[in-house]
Amino acid sequence: MKPKIYITRMLPNEIIDKLSGDFDVRMWEEEDIPVPKEVLLKEIEDVDGLICLFTETIDEEVIKKAHNLKVISNVAVGYNNIDIEAAAKRDIIVTNTPGVLTETTADLTFALLMATARRVVEASDYLRRGEWGSWSMMQLTGQDIYGATMGIIGLGRIGEALVKRAKGFDMKVLYHNRTRKLEKEQELGIHYVELKDLLEQSDYVCLLLPYSPEVHHLIGKEELSLMKNDAILINSGRGGLVDEDALFHALKDGEIWAAGLDVFEQEPVPVDHPLLTLPNVVTLPHIGSASVKTRMRMAHLAADNMINVLKGNEPITPVFLIKAQ
Ligand code: GLV
Ligand code: GLV
Repeated sequence: MKPKIYITRMLPNEIIDKLSGDFDVRMWEEEDIPVPKEVLLKEIEDVDGLICLFTETIDEEVIKKAHNLKVISNVAVGYNNIDIEAAAKRDIIVTNTPGVLTETTADLTFALLMATARRVVEASDYLRRGEWGSWSMMQLTGQDIYGATMGIIGLGRIGEALVKRAKGFDMKVLYHNRTRKLEKEQELGIHYVELKDLLEQSDYVCLLLPYSPEVHHLIGKEELSLMKNDAILINSGRGGLVDEDALFHALKDGEIWAAGLDVFEQEPVPVDHPLLTLPNVVTLPHIGSASVKTRMRMAHLAADNMINVLKGNEPITPVFLIKAQ
C-alpha cells in the first residue's frame, strides 16, 4: 500500500505528478478558502505525511489526531503555525523551505521600502483620480533612500540579502539580532547596535525576524516613540511582531512618517482595518516570496522533504532534528 499524504492547499500539477507515483495523495481543492479545522482533523487521522501552508494551524489538537504521521512539511520558511514541541514529542519531523525564497523576499522587502519612501502607490492613485492639476514644488515629496540608514531587526538569510541591496544604494546598515554576528559585520560592512539605538538612529526599520511568543509586539508604543519622526517601518516578517494599534496612532500622530506592511496580525487583514485608512501606509497581501520561480522552488522543496522522510532518508531542511532515543 502506498503511503498516504494530505495537502492542505492546491499545489501546481507538476508537484502533484511528482508525488502521485509513490503516494496516495489527497488535497484540499478550494483555492481561496483554507481547509476548515474539522476537515483537517479528519484527514490527518490516517496520513503518513502532511504538506501545509503557514495559513494552517497545526496545533496539538491536530497532531494528537494523527496516528501515522511522520512528517509535516511547511511550504514557508516561517513555521510559527506549527506546534513543533507537540510534533517532536511524537517523533514527527517538521520541515520548512529556507534558502529558496531568500533573494525573492529581500527583493520584495526592498520594493516595499522604496514604494513607501517615495509614495508610489499614493502617487499613482492621485493621478488616476484625476487630481494631477499641475506640477508643484513639494507635491508628493517622499524620503531619500540612497545614503540613508537602514536598521535590520533579525539578521538571518533574508536580512543578509537585504544588506546587499541597501549597499547598492549607499546606505549605512545597522542590525540587531539575538546573537551578534561578528563575521557578517566584517563581510557585509554592517554595525551591531542595541535595539534602542537601532530605533533611534535608523531611517528605515526593517523587521525580518521569525515570530515567536517572546517577540510578540516587539514594536509597540514605546519602541515607535524612539523612532525618528521621518522614519519608516517595514514589516515583511510576521504581523505579530508589531502592535498594530500603537502603529496606527504613531502614524496618525506623525510620530513616524510611514509604514510598509506585507504582513498583519490577522490575515487576510480585514478591509476596514484602521491601518488601511491611512495614506502613509503601503499594504501588501503577504507576497514576500511570491515570484513564479520561487513559489515553484518552495513547492518542490516541500515535496522533496516529504518524499525523503517517507522513503526513510534524511529531510533536506528540517526545522529541528529529532534525537535518537
Ligand atoms: C512566508 O511568510 C514564509 O514564512 O515563507
Ligand atoms: C530566512 O530564511 C531567514 O533566515 O531570514
